[in-house]
Amino acid sequence: MDAAAAVLPQHIAIIMDGNGRWAKSRYLPRALGHREGAEAVRRTVTACGELGVPYLTLFAFSSENWKRPADEVDDLMWLLRSYLQREVNELNRQRVRIGFIGERSALAPDLVSLIENAEMQTRQNDRLIFTIAVNYGGQHDIVAAAQRLAREVAAGHMQPDQITPESFAAHLMTTGLPDPDLIIRTSGEQRLSNFMLWQAAYSELIFLDTLWPDFSRQSLEQAIELFNRRERRFGATGES
Ligand code: FPP
Repeated sequence: MDAAAAVLPQHIAIIMDGNGRWAKSRYLPRALGHREGAEAVRRTVTACGELGVPYLTLFAFSSENWKRPADEVDDLMWLLRSYLQREVNELNRQRVRIGFIGERSALAPDLVSLIENAEMQTRQNDRLIFTIAVNYGGQHDIVAAAQRLAREVAAGHMQPDQITPESFAAHLMTTGLPDPDLIIRTSGEQRLSNFMLWQAAYSELIFLDTLWPDFSRQSLEQAIELFNRRERRFGATGES
């Protein structure tokens, strides 16, 4: 690919999948797969900053992941806590602003405090806007936005005709973020699993066989190269 002509996706979102299989193939407990997954998170944040990608969103815990065994849910929550406790200084050094989407009310209060603290301590950064989806579900996000708009209409603050794609999007948890240009899913599975359903309307979807703990800067560059081979038409014909 001609590097000069390459287009850098402005917003990359990733469904991190394959931690369990990575661990299983090494006869290790799933928890170690998730721990290696957290290392891949660190690598990916650094790589996006260095490459100049301005927005990165990672799907860390879906609203359906509560169905996993309690031990595994605890391991994932522990990893998030540990990441937030250790990483804020490094995020500031790399000028990364961290933010979270998802329903916080079901999270432990100490985790919510760590999230709020990390958001506050990195809010001045502008090199990379890094969003982590925790207890996030795309359908829930859409329903919650519809409920908020319905309440505004019922209270007489808004007319039904004023509900447009733009006003609807402004009520989603991702308000302020551009829609992802590129959604990557690792581990060979080819589905969205309730991630960014509204926001994915025109995203390029790229499925890599790589398991998430093995995801590297090279994997990211490979996905960006595949993205560059796609012709994005946004519903038009592609002829000018
Ligand atoms: C999917 O692999 C991965 C997850 C459900 C969790 C993702 C979490 C992390 C990478 C670690 C913590 C995150 C941060 C932001 C520090 P899977 O367990 O479904 O894998 P499998 O399909 O191979 O079983």
